[in-house]
Amino acid sequence: MLEEKRAIKPGTLLFPNAVVLVSCSDGADKDNIITIGWPGGIGASPPRIGIPIKRQRYSHGLICKTREFVVNIPTSDQMHAINHCGTVSGRNHDKYLECKLDRVAPTKLRFAPSIGQCPISLECRVEAIWDMGSHDYFVGRIVIAHVAENWLGNDNRVQVRAEQLVALVSGNYYRLSEEQGRSTYS
Ligand SMILES: Cc1cc2nc3c(=O)[nH]c(=O)nc-3n(C[C@H](O)[C@H](O)[C@H](O)COP(=O)(O)O)c2cc1C
Repeated sequence: MLEEKRAIKPGTLLFPNAVVLVSCSDGADKDNIITIGWPGGIGASPPRIGIPIKRQRYSHGLICKTREFVVNIPTSDQMHAINHCGTVSGRNHDKYLECKLDRVAPTKLRFAPSIGQCPISLECRVEAIWDMGSHDYFVGRIVIAHVAENWLGNDNRVQVRAEQLVALVSGNYYRLSEEQGRSTYS
């Protein structure tokens, strides 16, 4: 049956979204983690990822300074970290310490550590920063991907454990549960 729709004020009504933990550094002695609910892949070759960050965020200044960040994919046993890193500011909190997360030194970047507990970490160099009004959009070139052994098959293909991932729907977190079929797109 055709649903009748009502026109309302335009908004970014896009659901579900991935939720990621982005780690960054000031290039000296401070590092930080920010929760991002609107990450987006931008092309595959070369692989790029985009993250929108408001200018007032502490992480915004760090990423502008070092021009690097790491996108870490959290799992549903990291709900506290997802929420905490998206609620308090690194200006006056050490989120690695408070969330009991391990800093892992980058292999291609100079400064930004990744998060040991996340199964996937994508080291990114900033290629562009686009002014999007409310947010600046950081376009990151993925220079290396680190994937947990138990998320990898023999041929180095990533075996995503979908049931461990977290989706964000209108401010609520959901754990993905049931596969509904396979895409024929390649
Ligand atoms: C689920 C979730 C998604 C969020 N998504 C974004 C986002 O896409 N962009 C952004 O600038 N802030 C986002 N935030 C807010 C920041 O994570 C939050 O303001 C954080 O405390 C900023 O930390 P910082 O000051 O240490 O950088 C989100 C918060 C949550 C909880």
